[in-house]
Amino acid sequence: MQTVTTLPKLRQAVDEIRGNGANRATLALVPTMGALHEGHLTLVREAAAMADFVAVSIFVNPRQFGEGEDLDAYPRQMARDAALLEAEGVALLWAPDTMAMYPEGYATNVSVAGVSAGLCGADRPGHFDGVATVVCKLFNQVRPDMAVFGEKDWQQLAVIRRMARDLDLTQPHVDAIHGAAIVRDPDGLAMSSRNAYLSAENRASAATIPRALDEAIARILGGHDVSPTLSALEDALLGAGFSQVDYAELRDADSIELLNADNGNARLFVAARIGGTRLIDNKPVRG
Ligand code: PAF
Repeated sequence: MQTVTTLPKLRQAVDEIRGNGANRATLALVPTMGALHEGHLTLVREAAAMADFVAVSIFVNPRQFGEGEDLDAYPRQMARDAALLEAEGVALLWAPDTMAMYPEGYATNVSVAGVSAGLCGADRPGHFDGVATVVCKLFNQVRPDMAVFGEKDWQQLAVIRRMARDLDLTQPHVDAIHGAAIVRDPDGLAMSSRNAYLSAENRASAATIPRALDEAIARILGGHDVSPTLSALEDALLGAGFSQVDYAELRDADSIELLNADNGNARLFVAARIGGTRLIDNKPVRG
């Protein structure tokens, strides 16, 4: 695996990996912020199944963290991450520092209206501008044939697809932006780098999220009204030790528009805080 930290070296490495002519190899990109866990490695494996070579980026993107968020505390473990990626057969690790990504004078912002509003967009103003900006740059830097993102950040995936469609991106084309199913611990908790912040007690309570989502989905499918179902979901989380539920909402999976009834393409989204850690999850109403 080649690890590169500057743009000229990245371009050179990508050209070498791809080769040219009729045998030009395909390259899939898995963008990450590091602190890799099994969920990320699943994305890498899905990418490897689709492309000849896989590139992974590790960049803790300051533009997607708001004031008071966990930018400084965000786990950074480059040597461990690199070893994990090497073991997965990843061809290229793109690990720029902040100056390489946003050099002096950097002034451009990519903002995707509509899908960025609500859910995490409402709780974390500017977050999806930061995500869209860095992912647009990563796409232009690596120019992959395809990219893979986790469905745990479903709204992020919707934002990135909207951006790729709106900006007529070709590397990757919107249809080559793949979502990989959420990887869950045995008790159902969605894997996240932030789970590492949880105490043993809070980690056990955190598994209430997937259970409460399942219960709410069963109630919606059973014909119960959405609003009291979501209130019951919130109560279940607060009763399990969560200090705050940022949102528990039913939304269209593609437009992210708020729904008050299942429209056949609905997803249930939750963000809740426990012991200072904010956890998110989502599930489709019709699996
Ligand atoms: O999902 C993440 O880890 C980040 O939001 C991403 C897509 C790598 C952009 O920084």
